[in-house]
Amino acid sequence: MNSDLSIPQSLSQCQVKGVPYSGEHLLVRPATIEDAPALAMVIVQSFHRYSDVRQWFVPLLRLGIGEDLRYRLRSLPNGHHACFVACLSDSRGSGSMIVGTVEVTVKYLHSRAITPIKMPYISNLAVDPQYRRLGIARQLLNRCEVQVKRWNYSSIALHVLEHNDAAKALYGQCGYHTQYAERQLSSWIFNQPRRLFLQKNLSL
Ligand SMILES: CC(C)(COP(=O)(O)OP(=O)(O)OC[C@H]1O[C@@H](n2cnc3c(N)ncnc32)[C@H](O)[C@@H]1OP(=O)(O)O)[C@@H](O)C(=O)NCCC(=O)NCCS
Repeated sequence: MNSDLSIPQSLSQCQVKGVPYSGEHLLVRPATIEDAPALAMVIVQSFHRYSDVRQWFVPLLRLGIGEDLRYRLRSLPNGHHACFVACLSDSRGSGSMIVGTVEVTVKYLHSRAITPIKMPYISNLAVDPQYRRLGIARQLLNRCEVQVKRWNYSSIALHVLEHNDAAKALYGQCGYHTQYAERQLSSWIFNQPRRLFLQKNLSL
C-alpha cells in the first residue's frame, strides 16, 4: 500500500486535553509487522480493562495478541485485508507513537444464510484511552472506507455490543445504521449484551 494514502491532520485539541505533546500530527497509515507490539498494547488497554484483568496476565495477553497480529500482518498482501494504525508524530519527525488501530477484511457474513454474502467488515477498532475524543477513530474509519472503495465494494459492516455507548455514538455519527440485533442463546442465558449488526452504504 502507498504511503501517500496517509492522512496527516493537525491535532491542536491535544493541548486542550492536556496531553503531554505539542505540535503532533496524526498519521493514518498501513500497519507493519514491527507495529505489532504497540498495536497489541492499544488493543489490550482498549478491550481488556486493566481492572478486569489480573496484572500478571496482562503481559501474556499482550504477547498472545501481538503474535496473532503478526500472523495476520504477514498474510496481508494475500487478499482483501488491511490493518491501519494512527500515529501521533512530532512535527520535527523526532518520534511517533501508535495511538489507534483498525482492521478491515472482506469476508462472508451471514454464513448460515442460504446465500451468504461477501462484504468488507471492520474489526479491532481501538484508540488509546489517553487520546480519545480527538477524532482519531473517525479518521481510522475514513481510511477503511477509502480502502473498501478501492476494492470496489459499496458497503461496509461491523458488529458492536449494545452496551458500548461510545462506539455506538461514533458509528452513528459516521453514518452506520443498525440493521438488526443478533439473538444469541448465550446472551439470553447468561444475560450478556447482544451484538448489533451495523452497515454503511458507501455509494451514497
Ligand atoms: C470507540 C472508540 C474507538 C472511539 O475512539 P475515539 O478516537 O475516542 O473517537 P472519536 O474521537 O473519533 O469520536 C468521534 C465521535 O464519536 C462519538 N463518540 C466517541 N466516543 C464517545 C463517547 N465516549 N461518548 C459519546 N460519544 C462518543 C462522538 O460523537 C465523537 O465526536 P465528538 O468528540 O466531536 O463529539 C474508543 O472509545 C475505544 O477505543 N473504545 C474501546 C474499544 C471499542 O469499544 N472499540 C469499538 C468496538 S465495536
